[in-house]
Amino acid sequence: MNNISNNDSRPPGSYSDGNLGEVLLSKEAIRTAVEALGKRISDDYAGSRCLTLICVLKGAVVFFSDLIREITVPVTIEFITAKSYGNSSVSAGEVQIVKDIDTDIKGRDVILIEDISDTARTLTSLISKLKKREPNSIKTAVLLDKPSRREVSFVPDYTCFQVGNEFIVGYGLDFAEKYRNLPDIATLIAY
Ligand code: IMP
Ligand code: MG
Repeated sequence: MNNISNNDSRPPGSYSDGNLGEVLLSKEAIRTAVEALGKRISDDYAGSRCLTLICVLKGAVVFFSDLIREITVPVTIEFITAKSYGNSSVSAGEVQIVKDIDTDIKGRDVILIEDISDTARTLTSLISKLKKREPNSIKTAVLLDKPSRREVSFVPDYTCFQVGNEFIVGYGLDFAEKYRNLPDIATLIAY
């Protein structure tokens, strides 16, 4: 895992709208970390013939598509969308599955792949819902972890980078659905 500080002053990717700060993670740094994670997962699951990788949409899609190509053991892939509700009709922080996976994970080794763990409500809730389907094992892999923002206790099994409190975009992460296509990860300085 890598600890990150803001030390790259190159302009981020292809955007020049004035809302982006510095590049926090260059595409080269991300690529190196994703390759290393793919090797780790391949080693850890060397004996598994039933590994399912679940992409948590939408933010993880870029990380997911790069990571799965670095994994050398057989896998199946699935996609899930979670939505958190903070309004009066559902208790604050409640997470629901709004697009479910297509296959049965009973008896399978599962890794949930997410862009960033922030409060950790999304991943902890998805884990408890998916555990009821009796997978053989369930772990989590995140590109980014913001441990200082936790509302529930949680440590991802695999983390590429630990980051601080700033809001970041790019490489799948958005602000109001924008910036997902940035090849680097940059801080958002204006909202
Ligand atoms: P949580 O861990 O349940 O709070 O939610 C994680 C989700 O919050 C991620 O999948 C992102 O969609 C979003 N998120 C948290 N921090 C950031 C950020 O810095 N930039 C973009 N999205 C973020
Ligand atoms: Mg997300």
